[in-house]
Amino acid sequence: MSTSPCGDDGVVLKIRVESPQPPLRAARFWMLRREDRLSPAIPRPFSLYRQQGDELEFLIKVMGAGTKALAACTPGTKLRAIGPLGNGWPTLDGEGDMWVMLAGGIGSAPFWMGVEQALAGMDGRAPCPPSKLAILYGAATKGLLYDLEGFKGLGVRVETCTMDGSHGLKGHVLQLLEDLQRRGELPHKVRLLACGPERMLEAVEEHARASGLPCWLSLETMMGCGVGICNGCPVPTLPDGPMGAWSNAKCCVEGPVFSIECVTMGS
Ligand SMILES: Cc1cc2nc3c(=O)[nH]c(=O)nc-3n(C[C@H](O)[C@H](O)[C@H](O)COP(=O)(O)OP(=O)(O)OC[C@H]3O[C@@H](n4cnc5c(N)ncnc54)[C@H](O)[C@@H]3O)c2cc1C
Ligand code: FES
Repeated sequence: MSTSPCGDDGVVLKIRVESPQPPLRAARFWMLRREDRLSPAIPRPFSLYRQQGDELEFLIKVMGAGTKALAACTPGTKLRAIGPLGNGWPTLDGEGDMWVMLAGGIGSAPFWMGVEQALAGMDGRAPCPPSKLAILYGAATKGLLYDLEGFKGLGVRVETCTMDGSHGLKGHVLQLLEDLQRRGELPHKVRLLACGPERMLEAVEEHARASGLPCWLSLETMMGCGVGICNGCPVPTLPDGPMGAWSNAKCCVEGPVFSIECVTMGS
């Protein structure tokens, strides 16, 4: 186990889990807490950032008691890690329209392996060519574009924006998308994947619906158990969509990735 600082307020937490892990799908997640009393009793959910066998990495933004305790882990700290949980990104094939990954701050975490797996070929499909993938990475300020240099090294196009103009375009990720499309640097017909703050995901959903674009959101709802028992992670479904038989889906077991054909962020 080790931690290393990342960005203004983040850490990369590396752990080794006891059970052997097959290659895990990007955007699946784990519930983590320390075994000692420093962590709150309820574990916290984190997307898998990187994997090498049973060695897992998580990119964690320090927010409150749970993330502070994890960031303060030292070699030998015992963790309770429940996972892998949830579904992960859809098959990122290279056959249809380009995939554009919209990452908001710490919402970049599930995209690292998403890029790697798309480039390697997923679910028996041909590898996605690098030209058919782009990451549009936005944050409030430069220091919250976590591991930007690492993302740039993945071999796909990475464009940035910040609300204060300290890196890349001044503005949010949808403005960046529209700017690149207006300049002819990205096609208008793309497939969107998004992870980030709730307000960003609401705006992405609205944009995708208005533009008729396929779109998947990786949602970060509150979670209690992570395994479908506590009903603490409801996501409203669309009554006419494929999940409409129930008014809510459980983010932890049916997500965290949802197509906007199935659920809505809008209230
Ligand atoms: C599927 C999923 C994947 C996630 N992946 C990452 C990731 O890769 N990196 C990362 O830094 N964060 C990720 N998060 C968010 C992370 O779980 C919260 O930031 C963390 O739980 C905050 O805990 P805390 O005790 O430090 O903060 P608290 O003081 O408890 O709360 C701070 C903020 O976090 C929210 N929060 C608190 N508990 C939870 C909870 N159990 N579930 C969701 N939100 C909560 C609160 O609404 C509040 O806004 C993910 C969340 C989900 C659901
Ligand atoms: S977190 Fe308990 S049901 Fe989803």
